[in-house]
Amino acid sequence: MSTSNVPVIAIDGPSASGKGTVAARVAQALGFHYLDSGALYRALAHAASQAGIALDDEPGLVALAQRLDLRFEAGEIYLAGAPSGDAIRSEEAGRAASRIATLPAVRQALLERQRAFRQPPGLVTDGRDMGTVVFPDAQLKVYLVAGVEERARRRYNQLIEKGIDANLEQILQDLRERDARDANRAVAPLQRATDAKLLDTTDMSIEDAVQTVLRWFGEASPHEPRR
Ligand code: C5P
Repeated sequence: MSTSNVPVIAIDGPSASGKGTVAARVAQALGFHYLDSGALYRALAHAASQAGIALDDEPGLVALAQRLDLRFEAGEIYLAGAPSGDAIRSEEAGRAASRIATLPAVRQALLERQRAFRQPPGLVTDGRDMGTVVFPDAQLKVYLVAGVEERARRRYNQLIEKGIDANLEQILQDLRERDARDANRAVAPLQRATDAKLLDTTDMSIEDAVQTVLRWFGEASPHEPRR
């Protein structure tokens, strides 16, 4: 059965812009499924390092992506049946993810997996190319940004809250490098889709960002009940 009429809200933007938190809350408010596409890249990079596959071994990574036993359940990601916990949330995992994400065959191998999340009653997803490549026909596309220093502060607070050691200067430098790599890669670079709405959350609370996306979705789909 085709799922192309199942509504999708695609939220793209740079690292640590808050798009994951906003996307998850919008999904909850609407009762939609949620896909954190960055977690797929993180999980694959983590599984590769555990399996001794180099981060530039494209065929090895593709084969791993095809057999990877990955399940999303209640906000947790299970790798081969075991919760991945914080292993894929570290800055190191993010860096590794952004390296394998430059490889075209790896992106291709993860494409169908991502599209399979489009199930009734709807999907909210976040990443770098959700609106440009994975779901170009999404009902609503949002490009969510925040200043790099504000993003570094948010990432720092997030890590400290989880009891993970963090250094603000290091995070700022990593974010700048990751932004450059994500924006300059040849395949599916981070860029605003021409039909994406811009949401700058530098001086905005998460709650206000969530309400803005819900309002835009209500306007984009007049048959959905307004919230
Ligand atoms: O969003 P998150 O920081 O978890 O993503 C980790 C890395 O995975 C990003 O830096 C990016 O390089 C890559 N990624 C991607 N395309 C996506 C989601 C994430 O290339 N749709």
